[in-house]
Amino acid sequence: MCGIIGYIGSNVESNLYLGLERLEYRGYDSSGMTIKRNNDFTTYKATGVVEKLKSTIKENEEFGIGIAHTRWATHGQISIENCHPHFSSNGSTALVHNGIIENYEELKDDLIKKGKYFYGQTDSEVIAKLFDCKLDINNLRRVKKKLVGSYALAIISKNSDYIYFAKNKSPLYIALGSECALIASDPSCFVGFADGYITLEDGEYGKFSQKEVIIYDKNDKIVKKQPQKLDFSFINEEKSGYQHFMLKEIYQSRLALEKIMEVYRSYDIKEKLKELKNYEFDRIYLIGCGTAYHAGLIGGSYMREAFNIDVFCEIASEIMYKNLNIDEKSLCIFISQSGETADTLAALEYCKSRGGIIVAVTNTEYSSIARKASINFPICAGQEKAVASTKAYFAQCIVLYILTSYLKGNDYILPLYNFKRQIDFGDDNILKTLAEKLAGYDKVFFIGRGRDYITAQEASLKLKEITYIFSTAQPSGELKHGVIALIDKSVPVIVIATDENLFNKTLNNAYEIKARGGKLVLFTTLNTDSETEKAFDYIIKVKKPEKDFMPLQIILSLQKLAYFTAVTKGYDPDKPRNLAKSVTVE
Ligand code: G6P
Repeated sequence: MCGIIGYIGSNVESNLYLGLERLEYRGYDSSGMTIKRNNDFTTYKATGVVEKLKSTIKENEEFGIGIAHTRWATHGQISIENCHPHFSSNGSTALVHNGIIENYEELKDDLIKKGKYFYGQTDSEVIAKLFDCKLDINNLRRVKKKLVGSYALAIISKNSDYIYFAKNKSPLYIALGSECALIASDPSCFVGFADGYITLEDGEYGKFSQKEVIIYDKNDKIVKKQPQKLDFSFINEEKSGYQHFMLKEIYQSRLALEKIMEVYRSYDIKEKLKELKNYEFDRIYLIGCGTAYHAGLIGGSYMREAFNIDVFCEIASEIMYKNLNIDEKSLCIFISQSGETADTLAALEYCKSRGGIIVAVTNTEYSSIARKASINFPICAGQEKAVASTKAYFAQCIVLYILTSYLKGNDYILPLYNFKRQIDFGDDNILKTLAEKLAGYDKVFFIGRGRDYITAQEASLKLKEITYIFSTAQPSGELKHGVIALIDKSVPVIVIATDENLFNKTLNNAYEIKARGGKLVLFTTLNTDSETEKAFDYIIKVKKPEKDFMPLQIILSLQKLAYFTAVTKGYDPDKPRNLAKSVTVE
Protein backbone atom coordinates (compact mmCIF):
# COMPACT_ATOMS: atom_id res chain seq x y z
CA MET A 1 0.00 0.00 0.00
CA CYS A 2 1.29 3.49 0.89
CA GLY A 3 0.82 6.55 -1.27
CA ILE A 4 3.54 8.72 -2.78
CA ILE A 5 3.48 12.19 -4.28
CA GLY A 6 6.11 14.56 -5.68
CA TYR A 7 5.58 18.22 -6.50
CA ILE A 8 7.64 20.91 -8.26
CA GLY A 9 6.37 24.49 -8.00
CA SER A 10 5.46 27.06 -5.37
CA ASN A 11 3.67 26.39 -2.05
CA VAL A 12 5.24 22.93 -1.99
CA GLU A 13 4.38 22.13 1.65
CA SER A 14 0.67 22.89 1.39
CA ASN A 15 0.30 21.24 -2.03
CA LEU A 16 2.08 18.09 -0.88
CA TYR A 17 -0.13 18.05 2.21
CA LEU A 18 -3.26 18.25 0.03
CA GLY A 19 -1.89 15.31 -1.97
CA LEU A 20 -1.32 13.31 1.21
CA GLU A 21 -4.92 13.92 2.28
CA ARG A 22 -6.05 12.59 -1.08
CA LEU A 23 -3.78 9.55 -0.73
CA GLU A 24 -4.59 8.81 2.89
CA TYR A 25 -6.94 5.98 1.86
CA ARG A 26 -3.75 4.05 0.97
CA GLY A 27 -2.55 3.97 4.58
CA TYR A 28 -2.35 6.23 7.62
CA ASP A 29 0.27 4.72 9.94
CA SER A 30 2.64 7.65 9.41
CA SER A 31 3.36 10.39 6.89
CA GLY A 32 6.24 12.60 5.92
CA MET A 33 7.66 15.01 3.36
CA THR A 34 11.03 16.40 2.27
CA ILE A 35 11.41 19.66 0.35
CA LYS A 36 14.50 20.83 -1.49
CA ARG A 37 15.25 24.55 -1.67
CA ASN A 38 18.66 26.24 -2.12
CA ASN A 39 20.45 22.88 -2.30
CA ASP A 40 19.20 21.83 1.12
CA PHE A 41 16.43 19.60 2.50
CA THR A 42 13.68 20.34 5.02
CA THR A 43 11.88 17.26 6.33
CA TYR A 44 8.67 16.78 8.33
CA LYS A 45 7.51 13.45 9.76
CA ALA A 46 4.72 12.27 12.06
CA THR A 47 3.22 8.95 13.09
CA GLY A 48 -0.55 8.42 12.88
CA VAL A 49 -3.09 9.94 10.52
CA VAL A 50 -1.98 12.57 7.99
CA GLU A 51 -3.57 15.36 10.08
CA LYS A 52 -0.82 14.77 12.68
CA LEU A 53 1.74 16.00 10.14
CA LYS A 54 -0.05 19.32 9.61
CA SER A 55 0.95 20.98 12.88
CA THR A 56 4.64 20.22 12.22
CA ILE A 57 4.75 21.87 8.78
CA LYS A 58 6.00 25.42 8.21
CA GLU A 59 4.24 26.79 5.12
CA ASN A 60 6.51 28.29 2.47
CA GLU A 61 5.28 29.96 -0.72
CA GLU A 62 8.66 29.81 -2.47
CA PHE A 63 9.43 27.51 -5.38
CA GLY A 64 10.75 24.13 -4.34
CA ILE A 65 10.90 20.43 -5.15
CA GLY A 66 9.29 18.02 -2.73
CA ILE A 67 8.26 14.42 -2.16
CA ALA A 68 5.81 13.02 0.38
CA HIS A 69 4.48 9.69 1.57
CA THR A 70 1.67 8.19 3.60
CA ARG A 71 2.50 4.76 5.04
CA TRP A 72 0.76 1.46 5.64
CA ALA A 73 3.41 -0.42 7.58
CA THR A 74 4.75 -3.68 6.12
CA HIS A 75 8.42 -3.93 7.12
CA GLY A 76 9.20 -2.32 10.44
CA GLN A 77 7.01 -0.90 13.16
CA ILE A 78 5.14 2.39 13.05
CA SER A 79 7.84 4.86 14.11
CA ILE A 80 9.50 8.07 12.98
CA GLU A 81 12.62 6.11 11.93
CA ASN A 82 10.54 4.01 9.53
CA CYS A 83 8.52 6.97 8.26
CA HIS A 84 9.35 8.08 4.68
CA PRO A 85 11.13 9.91 3.03
CA HIS A 86 14.28 7.81 3.49
CA PHE A 87 17.79 9.10 2.94
CA SER A 88 21.07 7.96 1.46
CA SER A 89 23.97 7.72 3.95
CA ASN A 90 25.45 11.00 2.75
CA GLY A 91 22.03 12.62 3.23
CA SER A 92 21.95 14.18 -0.23
CA THR A 93 19.27 11.90 -1.74
CA ALA A 94 15.74 11.40 -0.37
CA LEU A 95 13.12 8.99 -1.64
CA VAL A 96 9.57 7.78 -1.10
CA HIS A 97 8.53 4.25 -2.00
CA ASN A 98 5.29 2.33 -2.44
CA GLY A 99 5.67 -1.44 -2.82
CA ILE A 100 7.81 -4.23 -1.40
CA ILE A 101 11.45 -4.97 -2.20
CA GLU A 102 11.57 -8.76 -1.99
CA ASN A 103 15.38 -9.05 -1.94
CA TYR A 104 15.90 -6.25 0.60
CA GLU A 105 17.50 -8.51 3.24
CA GLU A 106 20.17 -9.66 0.80
CA LEU A 107 20.85 -6.08 -0.34
CA LYS A 108 20.90 -4.85 3.26
CA ASP A 109 23.40 -7.51 4.38
CA ASP A 110 25.65 -6.51 1.54
CA LEU A 111 25.39 -2.80 2.40
CA ILE A 112 26.06 -3.49 6.10
CA LYS A 113 29.20 -5.41 5.11
CA LYS A 114 30.23 -2.28 3.20
CA GLY A 115 29.84 -0.28 6.41
CA LYS A 116 26.43 1.32 5.86
CA TYR A 117 24.35 2.21 8.93
CA PHE A 118 20.56 1.67 8.93
CA TYR A 119 18.41 3.83 11.21
CA GLY A 120 15.20 1.82 10.60
CA GLN A 121 13.83 -1.55 9.50
CA THR A 122 12.09 -0.76 6.20
CA ASP A 123 12.89 -2.29 2.84
CA SER A 124 12.58 1.26 1.43
CA GLU A 125 15.58 2.54 3.39
CA VAL A 126 17.68 -0.09 1.60
CA ILE A 127 16.89 1.57 -1.74
CA ALA A 128 17.90 4.95 -0.32
CA LYS A 129 21.22 3.53 0.85
CA LEU A 130 21.93 2.32 -2.71
CA PHE A 131 21.95 5.99 -3.76
CA ASP A 132 25.21 7.08 -2.13
CA CYS A 133 26.22 8.54 -5.45
CA LYS A 134 25.18 11.33 -7.77
CA LEU A 135 21.48 11.10 -8.57
CA ASP A 136 21.31 10.72 -12.35
CA ILE A 137 19.72 8.40 -14.90
CA ASN A 138 22.69 6.02 -15.02
CA ASN A 139 22.71 5.52 -11.28
CA LEU A 140 18.91 5.17 -11.17
CA ARG A 141 19.19 2.47 -13.85
CA ARG A 142 21.98 0.75 -11.88
CA VAL A 143 19.96 0.76 -8.62
CA LYS A 144 16.77 -0.32 -10.39
CA LYS A 145 18.56 -3.39 -11.78
CA LYS A 146 19.34 -4.53 -8.24
CA LEU A 147 15.72 -4.37 -7.06
CA VAL A 148 13.38 -7.37 -7.06
CA GLY A 149 9.78 -6.66 -6.15
CA SER A 150 7.26 -3.89 -6.55
CA TYR A 151 8.02 -0.21 -6.43
CA ALA A 152 6.77 3.23 -7.26
CA LEU A 153 9.65 5.55 -6.43
CA ALA A 154 10.03 9.33 -6.36
CA ILE A 155 13.56 10.50 -5.64
CA ILE A 156 15.10 13.94 -5.14
CA SER A 157 18.63 15.16 -4.56
CA LYS A 158 20.02 18.33 -3.00
CA ASN A 159 21.94 18.86 -6.25
CA SER A 160 19.26 18.27 -8.88
CA ASP A 161 16.26 20.21 -10.15
CA TYR A 162 14.47 17.04 -11.25
CA ILE A 163 12.34 14.44 -9.53
CA TYR A 164 13.54 10.99 -10.58
CA PHE A 165 11.11 8.09 -10.69
CA ALA A 166 10.82 4.36 -11.38
CA LYS A 167 7.83 2.02 -11.51
CA ASN A 168 7.29 -1.71 -11.25
CA LYS A 169 3.88 -3.17 -10.33
CA SER A 170 2.89 -0.27 -8.01
CA PRO A 171 0.87 2.47 -9.76
CA LEU A 172 2.52 5.77 -10.75
CA TYR A 173 1.35 8.76 -12.78
CA ILE A 174 2.88 12.11 -13.83
CA ALA A 175 1.19 15.42 -14.64
CA LEU A 176 2.51 18.70 -15.99
CA GLY A 177 0.39 21.69 -14.99
CA SER A 178 0.80 25.25 -16.20
CA GLU A 179 2.68 26.23 -13.03
CA CYS A 180 3.77 22.97 -11.50
CA ALA A 181 4.64 19.33 -12.16
CA LEU A 182 3.57 16.33 -10.12
CA ILE A 183 4.03 12.59 -9.71
CA ALA A 184 1.64 10.45 -7.63
CA SER A 185 0.23 7.00 -6.88
CA ASP A 186 -3.22 8.18 -7.92
CA PRO A 187 -4.26 10.79 -10.52
CA SER A 188 -6.81 12.21 -8.06
CA CYS A 189 -3.79 14.14 -6.65
CA PHE A 190 -3.63 16.13 -9.92
CA VAL A 191 -7.13 17.60 -9.66
CA GLY A 192 -6.84 21.40 -9.51
CA PHE A 193 -3.22 21.32 -10.79
CA ALA A 194 -3.32 19.81 -14.29
CA ASP A 195 -5.80 18.84 -17.03
CA GLY A 196 -4.09 15.65 -18.12
CA TYR A 197 -1.72 12.98 -16.89
CA ILE A 198 0.67 10.29 -18.10
CA THR A 199 0.36 6.69 -16.95
CA LEU A 200 3.66 4.92 -16.34
CA GLU A 201 4.02 1.24 -17.19
CA ASP A 202 6.04 -1.45 -15.43
CA GLY A 203 9.77 -1.12 -15.95
CA GLU A 204 9.59 2.58 -16.86
CA TYR A 205 11.80 5.17 -15.17
CA GLY A 206 13.11 8.65 -15.79
CA LYS A 207 13.03 12.22 -14.51
CA PHE A 208 10.88 15.31 -14.78
CA SER A 209 11.08 19.02 -14.06
CA GLN A 210 8.50 21.76 -14.43
CA LYS A 211 9.29 21.90 -18.15
CA GLU A 212 9.94 18.37 -19.34
CA VAL A 213 9.34 14.68 -18.69
CA ILE A 214 11.92 12.13 -19.83
CA ILE A 215 10.75 8.52 -19.69
CA TYR A 216 12.74 5.35 -20.47
CA ASP A 217 11.03 2.03 -21.07
CA LYS A 218 12.11 -1.31 -19.60
CA ASN A 219 14.59 -1.71 -22.47
CA ASP A 220 16.23 1.63 -21.62
CA LYS A 221 14.83 3.35 -24.75
CA ILE A 222 13.29 6.84 -24.46
CA VAL A 223 9.50 6.74 -24.90
CA LYS A 224 7.18 9.59 -25.77
CA LYS A 225 3.78 9.45 -24.08
CA GLN A 226 0.69 11.52 -24.70
CA PRO A 227 -1.17 12.70 -21.59
CA GLN A 228 -4.73 11.51 -21.16
CA LYS A 229 -7.50 13.79 -19.96
CA LEU A 230 -8.05 13.98 -16.24
CA ASP A 231 -11.65 13.11 -15.36
CA PHE A 232 -12.73 15.50 -12.64
CA SER A 233 -15.90 13.64 -11.78
CA PHE A 234 -14.30 11.06 -9.48
CA ILE A 235 -13.17 13.43 -6.76
CA ASN A 236 -15.08 13.23 -3.44
CA GLU A 237 -13.43 15.59 -0.97
CA GLU A 238 -16.32 17.00 1.02
CA LYS A 239 -18.41 15.20 3.61
CA SER A 240 -21.34 17.38 2.45
CA GLY A 241 -22.90 17.68 5.90
CA TYR A 242 -22.42 14.01 6.83
CA GLN A 243 -20.33 13.22 9.89
CA HIS A 244 -18.26 10.69 7.93
CA PHE A 245 -17.56 9.73 4.33
CA MET A 246 -18.87 6.24 5.02
CA LEU A 247 -22.40 7.46 5.71
CA LYS A 248 -22.30 9.84 2.75
CA GLU A 249 -21.15 6.99 0.52
CA ILE A 250 -23.88 4.59 1.70
CA TYR A 251 -26.43 7.21 0.61
CA GLN A 252 -24.56 7.75 -2.66
CA SER A 253 -25.55 4.21 -3.70
CA ARG A 254 -28.65 5.73 -5.25
CA LEU A 255 -26.52 8.22 -7.21
CA ALA A 256 -24.30 5.37 -8.38
CA LEU A 257 -27.35 3.53 -9.65
CA GLU A 258 -28.54 6.64 -11.52
CA LYS A 259 -25.10 7.12 -13.05
CA ILE A 260 -24.93 3.45 -14.09
CA MET A 261 -28.34 3.74 -15.75
CA GLU A 262 -27.11 6.75 -17.70
CA VAL A 263 -23.70 5.33 -18.67
CA TYR A 264 -24.97 1.84 -19.52
CA ARG A 265 -27.25 3.34 -22.17
CA SER A 266 -24.29 4.96 -23.94
CA TYR A 267 -22.87 3.87 -27.28
CA ASP A 268 -19.45 3.10 -25.75
CA ILE A 269 -20.83 0.70 -23.17
CA LYS A 270 -23.19 -0.92 -25.67
CA GLU A 271 -20.12 -1.62 -27.84
CA LYS A 272 -18.31 -3.16 -24.85
CA LEU A 273 -21.33 -5.33 -24.08
CA LYS A 274 -21.45 -6.50 -27.71
CA GLU A 275 -17.75 -7.33 -27.52
CA LEU A 276 -18.39 -9.38 -24.39
CA LYS A 277 -21.19 -11.28 -26.08
CA ASN A 278 -18.91 -12.13 -29.02
CA TYR A 279 -16.54 -14.13 -26.84
CA GLU A 280 -17.03 -17.87 -26.80
CA PHE A 281 -16.78 -19.25 -23.28
CA ASP A 282 -18.10 -22.26 -21.43
CA ARG A 283 -17.13 -21.28 -17.85
CA ILE A 284 -17.21 -18.08 -15.87
CA TYR A 285 -14.90 -17.09 -13.02
CA LEU A 286 -15.63 -14.07 -10.83
CA ILE A 287 -12.55 -13.01 -8.90
CA GLY A 288 -11.91 -10.36 -6.24
CA CYS A 289 -10.84 -9.66 -2.65
CA GLY A 290 -12.81 -8.58 0.41
CA THR A 291 -16.01 -6.79 -0.45
CA ALA A 292 -15.32 -7.13 -4.17
CA TYR A 293 -15.24 -10.92 -3.71
CA HIS A 294 -18.65 -10.73 -2.06
CA ALA A 295 -19.93 -8.71 -5.03
CA GLY A 296 -18.56 -11.56 -7.17
CA LEU A 297 -20.62 -14.03 -5.12
CA ILE A 298 -23.78 -12.00 -5.81
CA GLY A 299 -22.86 -11.70 -9.50
CA GLY A 300 -22.15 -15.43 -9.58
CA SER A 301 -25.61 -16.15 -8.19
CA TYR A 302 -27.16 -14.07 -11.01
CA MET A 303 -25.07 -15.84 -13.65
CA ARG A 304 -25.66 -19.33 -12.29
CA GLU A 305 -29.39 -18.72 -12.46
CA ALA A 306 -29.24 -17.25 -15.96
CA PHE A 307 -26.84 -19.58 -17.78
CA ASN A 308 -26.48 -23.29 -18.01
CA ILE A 309 -22.70 -23.26 -17.53
CA ASP A 310 -20.34 -23.53 -14.57
CA VAL A 311 -19.82 -20.30 -12.66
CA PHE A 312 -17.05 -20.10 -10.04
CA CYS A 313 -16.45 -17.34 -7.52
CA GLU A 314 -12.87 -17.14 -6.32
CA ILE A 315 -10.83 -15.22 -3.77
CA ALA A 316 -8.02 -13.65 -5.80
CA SER A 317 -5.20 -14.58 -3.42
CA GLU A 318 -6.21 -18.27 -3.53
CA ILE A 319 -6.98 -18.86 -7.19
CA MET A 320 -3.51 -20.02 -8.23
CA TYR A 321 -3.43 -22.76 -5.60
CA LYS A 322 -6.64 -24.44 -6.76
CA ASN A 323 -5.51 -25.98 -10.01
CA LEU A 324 -8.64 -24.70 -11.73
CA ASN A 325 -9.43 -25.39 -15.33
CA ILE A 326 -8.74 -21.91 -16.74
CA ASP A 327 -8.18 -21.67 -20.50
CA GLU A 328 -9.28 -19.71 -23.59
CA LYS A 329 -12.88 -20.82 -22.98
CA SER A 330 -12.90 -19.22 -19.51
CA LEU A 331 -14.47 -15.81 -19.02
CA CYS A 332 -12.55 -14.33 -16.05
CA ILE A 333 -14.26 -11.29 -14.52
CA PHE A 334 -12.06 -9.32 -12.10
CA ILE A 335 -13.93 -7.11 -9.66
CA SER A 336 -12.02 -4.33 -7.92
CA GLN A 337 -13.07 -0.92 -6.68
CA SER A 338 -9.54 0.50 -6.80
CA GLY A 339 -8.35 -1.57 -9.75
CA GLU A 340 -4.97 -1.78 -7.98
CA THR A 341 -5.37 -4.63 -5.47
CA ALA A 342 -2.13 -6.63 -5.75
CA ASP A 343 -3.80 -10.02 -5.14
CA THR A 344 -6.40 -9.33 -7.84
CA LEU A 345 -3.70 -8.13 -10.24
CA ALA A 346 -1.64 -11.27 -9.60
CA ALA A 347 -4.75 -13.44 -10.19
CA LEU A 348 -5.37 -11.53 -13.44
CA GLU A 349 -1.84 -12.23 -14.67
CA TYR A 350 -2.27 -15.89 -13.72
CA CYS A 351 -5.56 -16.24 -15.64
CA LYS A 352 -4.10 -14.32 -18.60
CA SER A 353 -1.10 -16.66 -18.72
CA ARG A 354 -3.54 -19.57 -19.01
CA GLY A 355 -5.36 -17.97 -21.92
CA GLY A 356 -8.46 -16.77 -20.03
CA ILE A 357 -10.66 -13.98 -21.42
CA ILE A 358 -9.96 -11.05 -19.09
CA VAL A 359 -12.76 -8.66 -18.21
CA ALA A 360 -12.69 -6.07 -15.41
CA VAL A 361 -15.39 -4.41 -13.33
CA THR A 362 -13.72 -1.43 -11.63
CA ASN A 363 -14.38 2.04 -10.26
CA THR A 364 -11.15 3.45 -11.69
CA GLU A 365 -10.82 3.40 -15.45
CA TYR A 366 -7.16 4.49 -15.31
CA SER A 367 -6.20 1.64 -12.93
CA SER A 368 -3.84 -1.28 -13.65
CA ILE A 369 -6.64 -3.86 -13.63
CA ALA A 370 -8.80 -1.78 -15.99
CA ARG A 371 -5.85 -1.33 -18.36
CA LYS A 372 -4.79 -4.98 -18.32
CA ALA A 373 -8.28 -6.28 -19.10
CA SER A 374 -9.61 -6.74 -22.62
CA ILE A 375 -12.79 -4.96 -21.57
CA ASN A 376 -13.34 -2.78 -18.50
CA PHE A 377 -16.86 -2.16 -17.25
CA PRO A 378 -16.96 0.94 -15.02
CA ILE A 379 -19.11 0.86 -11.89
CA CYS A 380 -19.63 4.64 -11.99
CA ALA A 381 -19.71 4.95 -8.18
CA GLY A 382 -17.48 8.04 -7.98
CA GLN A 383 -14.50 8.15 -5.64
CA GLU A 384 -14.97 6.11 -2.46
CA LYS A 385 -12.98 7.51 0.46
CA ALA A 386 -14.08 5.49 3.49
CA VAL A 387 -11.94 2.37 3.82
CA ALA A 388 -14.96 0.09 4.22
CA SER A 389 -16.49 -0.25 0.77
CA THR A 390 -20.23 0.52 0.55
CA LYS A 391 -21.48 2.25 -2.60
CA ALA A 392 -18.84 0.42 -4.65
CA TYR A 393 -20.25 -2.95 -3.50
CA PHE A 394 -23.74 -1.82 -4.44
CA ALA A 395 -22.56 -0.60 -7.85
CA GLN A 396 -20.44 -3.70 -8.53
CA CYS A 397 -23.49 -5.91 -7.95
CA ILE A 398 -25.59 -3.71 -10.26
CA VAL A 399 -23.00 -3.90 -13.05
CA LEU A 400 -22.79 -7.69 -12.68
CA TYR A 401 -26.59 -7.77 -12.88
CA ILE A 402 -26.38 -5.78 -16.14
CA LEU A 403 -23.73 -8.08 -17.64
CA THR A 404 -25.92 -11.09 -16.79
CA SER A 405 -29.07 -9.50 -18.20
CA TYR A 406 -27.34 -8.40 -21.39
CA LEU A 407 -25.78 -11.81 -22.04
CA LYS A 408 -29.15 -13.41 -21.38
CA GLY A 409 -30.81 -10.99 -23.80
CA ASN A 410 -32.95 -9.30 -21.12
CA ASP A 411 -33.69 -5.62 -20.66
CA TYR A 412 -31.92 -4.18 -17.63
CA ILE A 413 -33.00 -0.54 -17.67
CA LEU A 414 -36.63 -1.00 -16.60
CA PRO A 415 -35.86 -3.31 -13.64
CA LEU A 416 -33.15 -0.86 -12.51
CA TYR A 417 -35.54 2.05 -12.90
CA ASN A 418 -38.12 0.27 -10.73
CA PHE A 419 -35.51 -0.60 -8.13
CA LYS A 420 -34.35 3.02 -8.00
CA ARG A 421 -37.86 4.03 -6.94
CA GLN A 422 -37.91 1.40 -4.21
CA ILE A 423 -34.49 1.96 -2.61
CA ASP A 424 -34.89 1.96 1.17
CA PHE A 425 -32.04 2.95 3.51
CA GLY A 426 -33.83 1.69 6.64
CA ASP A 427 -35.09 3.47 9.74
CA ASP A 428 -32.23 5.37 11.42
CA ASN A 429 -33.91 5.41 14.84
CA ILE A 430 -34.25 1.62 15.01
CA LEU A 431 -30.78 1.12 13.52
CA LYS A 432 -29.19 3.51 16.04
CA THR A 433 -30.96 1.83 19.00
CA LEU A 434 -29.81 -1.55 17.77
CA ALA A 435 -26.27 -0.22 17.23
CA GLU A 436 -26.17 1.02 20.84
CA LYS A 437 -27.05 -2.51 22.02
CA LEU A 438 -24.58 -4.24 19.68
CA ALA A 439 -21.77 -1.94 20.84
CA GLY A 440 -21.95 -3.67 24.22
CA TYR A 441 -21.22 -7.16 22.83
CA ASP A 442 -17.85 -8.62 21.94
CA LYS A 443 -19.09 -11.04 19.29
CA VAL A 444 -21.91 -11.07 16.77
CA PHE A 445 -23.01 -13.79 14.34
CA PHE A 446 -24.78 -13.33 11.03
CA ILE A 447 -26.80 -16.09 9.36
CA GLY A 448 -28.73 -16.46 6.11
CA ARG A 449 -29.51 -18.92 3.33
CA GLY A 450 -28.73 -18.64 -0.40
CA ARG A 451 -28.06 -15.03 -1.39
CA ASP A 452 -28.85 -13.99 2.19
CA TYR A 453 -25.78 -15.94 3.27
CA ILE A 454 -23.69 -13.81 0.88
CA THR A 455 -25.21 -10.69 2.42
CA ALA A 456 -24.45 -12.13 5.87
CA GLN A 457 -20.77 -12.43 4.88
CA GLU A 458 -20.60 -8.85 3.62
CA ALA A 459 -22.49 -7.50 6.67
CA SER A 460 -20.18 -9.40 9.01
CA LEU A 461 -17.10 -8.05 7.20
CA LYS A 462 -18.42 -4.48 7.49
CA LEU A 463 -19.10 -4.86 11.21
CA LYS A 464 -15.71 -6.34 12.10
CA GLU A 465 -13.76 -3.92 9.87
CA ILE A 466 -14.96 -0.78 11.59
CA THR A 467 -16.16 -1.82 15.09
CA TYR A 468 -13.50 -4.50 15.91
CA ILE A 469 -16.29 -6.70 17.29
CA PHE A 470 -15.55 -10.34 16.51
CA SER A 471 -18.04 -11.39 13.88
CA THR A 472 -18.60 -14.29 11.54
CA ALA A 473 -21.24 -15.33 9.01
CA GLN A 474 -22.69 -18.82 8.75
CA PRO A 475 -25.16 -20.40 6.35
CA SER A 476 -28.29 -20.81 8.55
CA GLY A 477 -28.42 -24.55 7.99
CA GLU A 478 -24.76 -25.02 8.90
CA LEU A 479 -25.10 -23.45 12.34
CA LYS A 480 -26.20 -26.68 14.02
CA HIS A 481 -23.10 -28.45 12.70
CA GLY A 482 -20.72 -26.60 14.98
CA VAL A 483 -21.12 -22.88 15.59
CA ILE A 484 -24.26 -23.37 17.69
CA ALA A 485 -21.88 -24.54 20.44
CA LEU A 486 -20.92 -20.86 20.86
CA ILE A 487 -24.48 -19.61 21.31
CA ASP A 488 -25.59 -18.38 24.73
CA LYS A 489 -27.18 -15.22 26.05
CA SER A 490 -24.01 -13.24 25.42
CA VAL A 491 -24.29 -13.70 21.64
CA PRO A 492 -26.55 -11.69 19.34
CA VAL A 493 -27.37 -13.37 16.04
CA ILE A 494 -28.43 -11.27 13.08
CA VAL A 495 -30.71 -13.24 10.79
CA ILE A 496 -31.00 -12.08 7.18
CA ALA A 497 -34.12 -13.35 5.42
CA THR A 498 -35.25 -11.87 2.11
CA ASP A 499 -36.15 -15.02 0.18
CA GLU A 500 -39.78 -16.10 0.60
CA ASN A 501 -38.97 -19.67 -0.32
CA LEU A 502 -36.32 -19.97 2.36
CA PHE A 503 -37.96 -17.88 5.06
CA ASN A 504 -39.48 -20.71 7.10
CA LYS A 505 -36.31 -22.77 7.10
CA THR A 506 -34.29 -19.78 8.25
CA LEU A 507 -36.87 -19.02 10.95
CA ASN A 508 -36.51 -22.56 12.27
CA ASN A 509 -32.77 -22.01 12.63
CA ALA A 510 -33.50 -18.75 14.42
CA TYR A 511 -35.75 -20.61 16.90
CA GLU A 512 -32.86 -23.03 17.60
CA ILE A 513 -30.80 -20.00 18.63
CA LYS A 514 -33.63 -18.59 20.73
CA ALA A 515 -33.99 -21.90 22.57
CA ARG A 516 -30.36 -21.56 23.65
CA GLY A 517 -30.73 -18.02 24.97
CA GLY A 518 -29.19 -16.18 22.00
CA LYS A 519 -30.44 -12.67 21.20
CA LEU A 520 -32.14 -12.48 17.81
CA VAL A 521 -32.32 -9.66 15.28
CA LEU A 522 -34.11 -9.99 11.93
CA PHE A 523 -33.26 -7.99 8.77
CA THR A 524 -35.96 -8.66 6.20
CA THR A 525 -37.92 -7.41 3.22
CA LEU A 526 -40.79 -9.86 3.95
CA ASN A 527 -43.98 -9.62 5.97
CA THR A 528 -43.78 -11.10 9.44
CA ASP A 529 -46.57 -12.60 11.60
CA SER A 530 -47.00 -12.06 15.33
CA GLU A 531 -45.27 -15.32 16.26
CA THR A 532 -42.14 -14.29 14.33
CA GLU A 533 -42.28 -10.83 15.85
CA LYS A 534 -42.35 -12.33 19.35
CA ALA A 535 -39.26 -14.44 18.66
CA PHE A 536 -37.02 -11.54 17.65
CA ASP A 537 -35.61 -8.85 19.91
CA TYR A 538 -35.40 -6.45 16.96
CA ILE A 539 -36.83 -6.50 13.45
CA ILE A 540 -35.51 -4.23 10.72
CA LYS A 541 -37.91 -4.25 7.80
CA VAL A 542 -37.22 -2.55 4.47
CA LYS A 543 -39.22 -2.30 1.25
CA LYS A 544 -39.37 -5.38 -0.91
CA PRO A 545 -37.82 -4.89 -4.36
CA GLU A 546 -37.57 -7.45 -7.20
CA LYS A 547 -35.87 -10.66 -6.11
CA ASP A 548 -32.49 -9.89 -7.73
CA PHE A 549 -32.20 -6.61 -5.83
CA MET A 550 -33.01 -7.99 -2.36
CA PRO A 551 -29.33 -8.32 -1.37
CA LEU A 552 -28.69 -4.72 -2.42
CA GLN A 553 -31.72 -3.37 -0.57
CA ILE A 554 -30.94 -5.14 2.69
CA ILE A 555 -27.19 -4.43 2.70
CA LEU A 556 -27.86 -0.67 2.92
CA SER A 557 -29.34 -1.05 6.44
CA LEU A 558 -26.66 -3.51 7.45
CA GLN A 559 -23.92 -1.09 6.32
CA LYS A 560 -25.58 1.62 8.39
CA LEU A 561 -25.81 -0.70 11.38
CA ALA A 562 -22.03 -1.25 11.22
CA TYR A 563 -21.53 2.50 10.82
CA PHE A 564 -23.73 3.48 13.80
CA THR A 565 -22.10 0.80 15.96
CA ALA A 566 -18.61 2.14 15.17
CA VAL A 567 -19.73 5.69 15.95
CA THR A 568 -21.35 4.53 19.22
CA LYS A 569 -18.05 2.90 20.20
CA GLY A 570 -16.21 6.15 19.46
CA TYR A 571 -14.26 4.86 16.45
CA ASP A 572 -13.65 6.68 13.18
CA PRO A 573 -15.44 4.45 10.64
CA ASP A 574 -13.61 6.13 7.74
CA LYS A 575 -10.17 5.05 8.96
CA PRO A 576 -10.33 1.70 10.74
CA ARG A 577 -7.16 0.50 12.41
CA ASN A 578 -4.72 -1.72 10.49
CA LEU A 579 -6.64 -1.46 7.22
CA ALA A 580 -6.11 0.46 4.00
CA LYS A 581 -8.42 1.03 1.10
CA SER A 582 -6.06 0.08 -1.67
CA VAL A 583 -4.00 -2.99 -0.85
CA THR A 584 -1.08 -2.95 -3.26
CA VAL A 585 0.96 -5.70 -1.59
CA GLU A 586 0.30 -9.46 -1.97
C1 G6P B 1 -9.27 -3.79 1.03
C2 G6P B 1 -10.37 -2.84 1.42
C3 G6P B 1 -11.73 -3.48 1.16
C4 G6P B 1 -11.82 -3.93 -0.29
C5 G6P B 1 -10.67 -4.85 -0.68
C6 G6P B 1 -10.61 -5.09 -2.17
O1 G6P B 1 -9.24 -4.88 1.88
O2 G6P B 1 -10.24 -2.48 2.79
O3 G6P B 1 -12.74 -2.51 1.40
O4 G6P B 1 -13.02 -4.61 -0.48
O5 G6P B 1 -9.43 -4.24 -0.32
O6 G6P B 1 -10.32 -3.86 -2.80
P1 G6P B 1 -10.64 -3.54 -4.31
O7 G6P B 1 -10.14 -2.16 -4.52
O8 G6P B 1 -9.90 -4.56 -5.13
O9 G6P B 1 -12.12 -3.66 -4.50
